[in-house]
This record gives sequence, structure tokens and C-alpha cells, in this order.
Amino acid sequence: MKADKIREGIYWVGAIDWAVRNFHGYLTEKGTTYGAYLIVDEKVTLIDTVKASFEDEMFARISDIVSPEEIDIVISNHVEMDHSGGIPEVVKRCPKAVIYTCEPSGKKGLTAHYGDHNYQTVKSGDSISIGQRTLQFVSTPMLHWPDNMVTYCPEEKILFSNDAFGQHFASAERFDDELPLSDILYQAKSYYANIIMCFGKQVQGAYAQVKNLDIDMIAPAHGVVWRSHVKDILGAYAKWSENSPESGAVVVFDSMWHSTEKMAKAIAQGFHDAGYSVRIYDLKASHWSQIVPDILTSKYLAVGSPTLNNQMMPSVAAFLCYLKGLSPKNRQAFAFGSFGWGGQSVPYVEKELEQCGFTLCMEGIKVTYIPSEEKLAEIEACVRKLV
Ligand code: FEO
Repeated sequence: MKADKIREGIYWVGAIDWAVRNFHGYLTEKGTTYGAYLIVDEKVTLIDTVKASFEDEMFARISDIVSPEEIDIVISNHVEMDHSGGIPEVVKRCPKAVIYTCEPSGKKGLTAHYGDHNYQTVKSGDSISIGQRTLQFVSTPMLHWPDNMVTYCPEEKILFSNDAFGQHFASAERFDDELPLSDILYQAKSYYANIIMCFGKQVQGAYAQVKNLDIDMIAPAHGVVWRSHVKDILGAYAKWSENSPESGAVVVFDSMWHSTEKMAKAIAQGFHDAGYSVRIYDLKASHWSQIVPDILTSKYLAVGSPTLNNQMMPSVAAFLCYLKGLSPKNRQAFAFGSFGWGGQSVPYVEKELEQCGFTLCMEGIKVTYIPSEEKLAEIEACVRKLV
């Protein structure tokens, strides 16, 4: 395993997790990387580590450049174990390393995970000199844990951003201009939607701090390094964090005997006729984490479930539970579904949509047993009128 040079004296020494497919309920279809960065200066510095069980890969890459014993400083931008899991091995293999973390949450979190290793704390605005270079710290609390911070090197104009601007994307390539931009931006969008969407206000606060930095490279802890498309990813975060999409519609459903499915297709036709970009997701075929990227950039969401044993379908309940945690705001929604005799699913879905933060824009659409052609035409017209 070799280090990848990203600048003179600065190396990516992380690990590639080609096989991970589920990150806390988020399907990571392309795997991921755990980005760690080595800066060889008067003080040899390691920024972040890797997930436990990937330490040997990280140390092999470090050893390609320096002996791990030479590391003087370790910066822990984030306590979550995909980035701090290597700290116990760092303590063993880098005897003189001093570990810096954000105060007070970083120290508290690292101590709870790994015991007390005399962590040094920094706060927003602090900086340390490592020789020819300086490292400045910017606290970004709740992006997405209380301890998050980013590290900026003004001499190199590099932002070591940890989770922010990351993508769950395993690749041997290290840079944003070595892979199709649309693939990288999609993975960045999926990452934002599945992990960061609920922290839009915090993103805007952090953005206000970093936008004044002179950045020509962003080195995140997941995915590729941004060097040719820095403006694209900064602009995308600014837009996504506004949480106010102006167009687009998503129709999500499960169905037992295709009646709710027919309604879903009529609703989608209504959106399409009105000039909206629309996506349909059948929960039997799509995982909830594959759906939320489109919800991030859509104004409308329609959720359909037939009534099953006086409830909504469990697949729909699980989708709405996941969505509630992501707390989408400033979007409109409505429910629909077929039923035989009870009809409880639609009001249950509506209640969940409201708790997710949606505004109900239309009365829920219910159909007994099978929708007629006339009823489907009525549904299409109803959606056209809505938008
Ligand atoms: Fe990639 Fe919050 O850890």
C-alpha cells in the first residue's frame, strides 16, 4: 500500500473500503474510503485516522513516506469511529504523537471511546504551527456530531473537511477530475441527503465561516479530493442547505394488488403533465436511502400505502421513520392509498408526513379496492390543479 501525494509534502494515507454496503441504514452501493492525511513538515502531522480494522492499511501508506514513530501531531476532526478508530493503534505505534481535538465535545468523546490519552483541545479560531505550515481550526458543531471541526492550512489553501463535502465512493482515484463529475456529485448529494439534510442551519453557519477562506482544495474524509470542482461542491452545499427546492416531485409507494401502484402512476402523470420532473419509487424495489437524494431537491412528495391490518404497510412506515430523522423542511406532501374496508393508512401516512416537517398540500386520496379509469383521470387532474 502506497501513499497518494496530493501536494508536495502532503499525502492521502487513508483506507479504501470496497465492500461496505450499509452505513447505519444508508446503502453505500459504491463502498467508501476513510480519508487520513499526512503532512511532512518540521512536525510530522496526521489529520484523522481510519475505521478500526483498516489501521494496517493506513500505517502501510504512512510507512511509504515516514516511520510512524516520527509522527508528532494527530488532528482528530471528528470522534465518530470511522475516523477515530485508528487512535488506539496511533497511541501504540506513534509514541510521541500529541492528539488534538475540539473542545469540549471532542475530548469528552475520545475519552469515552478510547480512554484518556492526554488529548489537547482547540477551539474555533485557534491555530498551531507545524513548521512551514499553519493549521487553523474551525468548529462545525452538529455537522453532524457535537465534536465536528474542520482544519484549514492557509499556506496550501487546503481545507481538511472530514465528513463535510464527502462522498461514500470507493475508488483508486484520489481526485474529482479523475472520475465522471456527475458520479461524484451524485454521491456527494446522496451523502448530504442521507446524513446532513437535517442540519441545514448548521451547514449555513459553517458555510459562512469557510466561505471567507481562500480554498483551492478540499480534502474530505470520504471519497475523492476536490481540486478542480471546489466551486461546484461549495455551491451545491449552499443550495442544498437552503432546504427550499422550487420544483420536482417524488412519488413513493408500496402496493398489495397494484391499486395503490396505479394511483402512484396517475399522480406521477399529473406532475409530468404539469411540467414537473417526477420520480416514482416502489418500496419493494428501492431502499429508502436511494430515495432521499431526490427528495432533497424536490418540492413535492406523495406517499402511498394500502391499508394492511388497519395500518400502513410496514415498508412505508420504515421509510417515513427514516425520513423523519432527516427532517426535510419547506416541502409539500400528500398521502394516497387504496383500501377494502378500514382505510386507516392514509391518515396514518398524513400524520407521519406532518411529523417529518412537510406541509400537507392536499387532502389524502383514498380509493376503495381498485381505482377505475375515471378515478385515475380524476387523480391526474387533481395533481395538475395542485401544481
Ligand atoms: Fe464519517 Fe461522522 O463519520
